[in-house]
Amino acid sequence: MKTILIINGPNLNLLGKREPEVYGNKSFETYFEELKTLFPEFRLEYFQSNSEGEIIDKLHLAGFTADGIILNAGAYTHTSLAIADAVRAIQTPVIEVHISNVFARESYRHHSYLSEAAKGCIIGFGLNSYNLALESFR
Ligand code: DQA
Repeated sequence: MKTILIINGPNLNLLGKREPEVYGNKSFETYFEELKTLFPEFRLEYFQSNSEGEIIDKLHLAGFTADGIILNAGAYTHTSLAIADAVRAIQTPVIEVHISNVFARESYRHHSYLSEAAKGCIIGFGLNSYNLALESFR
């Protein structure tokens, strides 16, 4: 059984409450239960942190044992060379995901430090972005 870890970065703990017109009404905890039902063939793990260092530590920890990592680094996507370096440093393939279409938003969201280091990027399909990323590990 493949182990796939989903890592969510800053402010994504507020999904369902945060800017629902952009990010929807569902909490990630509710959605994560649905994902487990939809992908019974995977051992799914979930980690959320608002701290850059904790995200890096988690990448180091899972990045040599998990079969796949799905990373929504939130705003760190656009600022963190350190998270991008961590993605490069590990062996587990990382898929970058975003709920919103960052290219249809402010120009400061158009650049990602992570995209070059990621195996692939799935952007703008709402929470379904995570489903699509999981599909890629099937
Ligand atoms: C986001 C897009 C980022 O620009 C933003 O800072 C987020 C969420 C998304 O999933 O659409 O926190 O990563």
